[in-house]
Amino acid sequence: MRLMDENTVTDAVLEQMANTPDPRLKEVMGALVRHLHAFAREVDLKPEEWLAGIAFLTAVGQKCTPHRQEFILLSDTLGLSTVVNALHDKRMAEATTTSSILGPYYRENAPSFRLGDSIAVKTHGQPIAIYGRVTNKKGEGIPNASIEIWQTNEEGDYDLQLEAADEMDMRGWFHADSDGRFYLRSVRPHAYRIPMDGPVGKLLTAQGRHGYRPAHIHFLIGAPGYREVVTAAYLGSDKYLETDTVFGVMPSLITETKAGDASSPFPDLPSLRFDFTLAARAAGEGTGRVGADVSKIGARLLT
Ligand code: BEZ
Ligand code: FE
Repeated sequence: MRLMDENTVTDAVLEQMANTPDPRLKEVMGALVRHLHAFAREVDLKPEEWLAGIAFLTAVGQKCTPHRQEFILLSDTLGLSTVVNALHDKRMAEATTTSSILGPYYRENAPSFRLGDSIAVKTHGQPIAIYGRVTNKKGEGIPNASIEIWQTNEEGDYDLQLEAADEMDMRGWFHADSDGRFYLRSVRPHAYRIPMDGPVGKLLTAQGRHGYRPAHIHFLIGAPGYREVVTAAYLGSDKYLETDTVFGVMPSLITETKAGDASSPFPDLPSLRFDFTLAARAAGEGTGRVGADVSKIGARLLT
């Protein structure tokens, strides 16, 4: 009989898991156990702290609804989502537009628009144009590429945070033209504070963190045969660029609207140009999306 102490128990657990038939499950769970035990030893975890951790995770789960994913918020604020995105980008043979976090406000089945339309249907604000081109690695336009876009209104709220949360606004689908070009209208988004009324917000407050994200516009770009890109454009004048609470800002994703842009399809509007490069999709490759439609996550758990 092995003497169980804070060190020997690690091997005992790994031995019990040694016959896991799925090799990836075995690898991931083995590493998780080793790191969790090492973490508890490193901080000399006290029983009341362990209980506080369990209570915190329980509260995170209880805060989740079909419109809110507190676990994704936790992953984002711990920087884990950015780690997963960066590993994903690095694993790919071909470099493409840098990823940025999907966040908890993505929704499937957003309305479909025609090129030139505005996604700000129910929202008022400072009108802007957004345009660009979706190309492959050779710089060739990808005809009919899909461009999914979502953002906050000018107060920094997503539709999901507003009273009529089932109604969609400030989001939609577009299809690029035969040369991969797209153009649409919107209103200028605003920096916003992530939801602070739950356990994740309480943790940020306890850590003296402000909880803000710089103003940004999310994009999910895809085309048959290409790897999806989940990314965002960050407005260069925002004061939270350096201290984004969820670590989503990459230098290559910082941009700004330009007044009097003669190449914009809407030269009278402040225009934001953002081009995307997609890589060919390898067989059996996953989506690379970190996060998902919150209502779908809930539905998946219930089935
Ligand atoms: C967002 O980009 O919308 C977001 C990302 C992470 C946490 C909260 C919001
Ligand atoms: Fe966002």
